[in-house]
Amino acid sequence: MDTEPTAPAGTAPAPTRLPQPLGAAFVARPGPTLARLRETCPVARVQTPAGRPAWLVTRAEDVRAGFMDPRLSLSGGRTPDPTRKRRALDVTLVNYDPPDHTRIRRLATPALTPARVAEHRERIERAAADLLDAAEAARDGGPVELMDAFARPLAFLSLCELFAVREEERAALYAPVARLADKAGCTPRDIEESVARIDAFVRAEMARRAAEPGDDLVSRTLAEWHARGGAGEDEVASLLAMLLLAGYDSTVQAIGMSVVALLEHPEVQQELRDRPDRIPRAVDEFLRWDTPGPFATKRLALDDIRFGDTVVPAGSGVLLSVASANHDPRCHADPETLDPARRSASRHLTFGLGPHYCPGSALARLELTVALTGILTRWPRLTPAVPLTGLTWSGGYLHRRLTALPVQPGGRP
Ligand code: HEM
Repeated sequence: MDTEPTAPAGTAPAPTRLPQPLGAAFVARPGPTLARLRETCPVARVQTPAGRPAWLVTRAEDVRAGFMDPRLSLSGGRTPDPTRKRRALDVTLVNYDPPDHTRIRRLATPALTPARVAEHRERIERAAADLLDAAEAARDGGPVELMDAFARPLAFLSLCELFAVREEERAALYAPVARLADKAGCTPRDIEESVARIDAFVRAEMARRAAEPGDDLVSRTLAEWHARGGAGEDEVASLLAMLLLAGYDSTVQAIGMSVVALLEHPEVQQELRDRPDRIPRAVDEFLRWDTPGPFATKRLALDDIRFGDTVVPAGSGVLLSVASANHDPRCHADPETLDPARRSASRHLTFGLGPHYCPGSALARLELTVALTGILTRWPRLTPAVPLTGLTWSGGYLHRRLTALPVQPGGRP
């Protein structure tokens, strides 16, 4: 989901005079640009860094309406051809509209409910504790690079838990997952190979679990598929591959961004250390506060669509800004205050809304709760090991990536 979708057929290149607000400065700090647009031009025609025109929608009410409007299409109005042979990720949920989208998505959602995901809690907690032990042992009093030492392995191990990936296969699977999350420096051949490896992994797991079902995500998805039918084998493989990939870097980055928020707000650190029972609720405030995906996947307007005073013409690309909606004072009072007890926090749009609402939200919330509880209870004082203004960001305006997060932990409490 981190690449810019291709322009809808027939869309002319944007005239260069359109504003281009989505460059590197935006990736590092999207808030000021989004706040300006939200207050001065809430439905703005811009040019993306790839040179394509798009409409940015920034007010919470409009973003919510956009998510629920079936005329904003992810498939571009195309119907999938079930006879075409597909490989993992050739077609994903975010390329489909209902009803095709619904028949595929519903195969996986029963395995991802909060109750199902909670069955994995203990093992995810153990993984987090082991990673923190290892980071503590390796640091010799020095800083810890939290993304490599903790966020990346924890998100990957949590997915391995859900998928019941065998120990001996984990290292081989990590390489293509990590590579597709951060394509910097990758050749097209590297990407091709990574997709092929994930495709092969998913199909091998489908065969293994068909012969020997368990209580993992693959087995449960296959059981739904056999009970309901309605999808091709390629579509099921693609669904599983997407869960693996969409579930990795988004959560890695959400862990990193939540820790940045804690570093910026030592008083919140202390409050949550004193009252760890408040962490699950605070997780929604961290998700509101900052997000790796400032926009939902780009949609195509199939009709003229009105947002307030502006009509977005049919055929336009539309970017719904969840990050802007999350800081809209019309929806969240005093939005620039990080308030772990905020009542409106769970109304954030970080997981989207409507038919494409993130099916991994329960897992992401669990991972964040475990990660922040582990860090705050292990380390009595967490400070940045480099100035926070100097953190490096990569990715792009659709998927922001914190490259590294060096922190200085206090000793064990
Ligand atoms: C904090 C972490 C996460 C964030 C911020 C996030 C965000 C989102 C958002 C905003 C969407 C909707 C996209 C749209 O409507 O354009 C989405 C969809 C999706 N997410 Fe997540 N997600 C996260 C974690 C996960 C996890 C852990 C998984 C898998 C276990 C996952 C799997 C997916 C899938 C498969 C979709 C496509 C759903 C569909 O199109 O119906 N995500 N996510």
